Amino acid sequence: MTGLLDGQSAIVTGSALGLGTAFARALAGQGANVTICDIREEVHDVVSALEEVGVEAQGFVADVGVAEDVRKVVDQHVQRFGGVDVLVSNAGVWRASTATDSLEKALDDYDLVVNTNLKGVYLFGRAVIPHMIAGGGGNIVHVASDHVATCGTPYHRSHEDTPNCPFSGQDPRPTGGGPDMDLYDASKWGINGFTIPWSKALKEHKVRVNGLCMGATDSHMVRTFHEQNPASGILNNAMRAEHVAALMVELIAEGPEGRTGNNINIAVGHPIQLPSPGTPYIYSEVQA
Ligand SMILES: NC(=O)c1ccc[n+]([C@@H]2O[C@H](COP(=O)([O-])OP(=O)(O)OC[C@H]3O[C@@H](n4cnc5c(N)ncnc54)[C@H](O)[C@@H]3O)[C@@H](O)[C@H]2O)c1
Repeated sequence: MTGLLDGQSAIVTGSALGLGTAFARALAGQGANVTICDIREEVHDVVSALEEVGVEAQGFVADVGVAEDVRKVVDQHVQRFGGVDVLVSNAGVWRASTATDSLEKALDDYDLVVNTNLKGVYLFGRAVIPHMIAGGGGNIVHVASDHVATCGTPYHRSHEDTPNCPFSGQDPRPTGGGPDMDLYDASKWGINGFTIPWSKALKEHKVRVNGLCMGATDSHMVRTFHEQNPASGILNNAMRAEHVAALMVELIAEGPEGRTGNNINIAVGHPIQLPSPGTPYIYSEVQA
């Protein structure tokens, strides 16, 4: 097999189903050996599907918000594959949470959502970075949300400098997930606090750090959301996970000189394609 990522190895978190499985399959399809982890036992079923592609794969039941679990996954990966070339920090949860919830519910939701969506990204990133530096480079992909980047940021209102924005002409530009997504959005916004500083700190080590900020993509999470909000119509136009995953591979395949510090916005109803680096489509601090 000849693939874009032959000889590389990747870790994908939250990969028992949904986007995580699609990311792992796409990486394996390009020749990367893959370690996957999830809190669900079904993660083991995905391993055999990856091996069928012809790469080596292993799976662990692990919680991305627990430092010991993260260390175990990364140690086992390095032991087997000799280093880490790619990390896709995909594990994430959504739970309806609003400013008027009881404090008891709010604290419970906070622990679940922030520990998974934000602390998990931090712990995994910090665990792989030394290995990537030692190996001469790597790629970290943070799976964020279009709530974070829709052709810029919510306070970035001018349409003149975003001529290709799919939301051009809409003012205010639609960002954020609505009133019952405070913790989800806070956790996803928080990821910027890792994407941007890490991309700057690690540029000299050829470790690229980017965010994928996609809109509704058909998955267990989106179907759960739809069950709670059937009028949302979210499933009607949802993107397919394998298309988003193909874009993620394209991003990694840019190689060591590729873009870093970018949030890649992928909008429902628009072509799923990598924008040229530095276009105003993306909230960008560090260019390729
Ligand atoms: N589907 C969408 O429309 C969409 C849009 C934007 C962003 N995202 C993000 O994409 C990522 C994947 O979402 P999805 O739609 O595939 O969701 P999903 O619920 O279908 O899958 C998420 C996976 O993460 C796992 N997981 C949850 N908590 C975990 C933990 N603590 N440790 C390890 N694994 C854990 C789950 O068990 C599940 O297998 C998430 O970060 C989500 O926020 C999804």
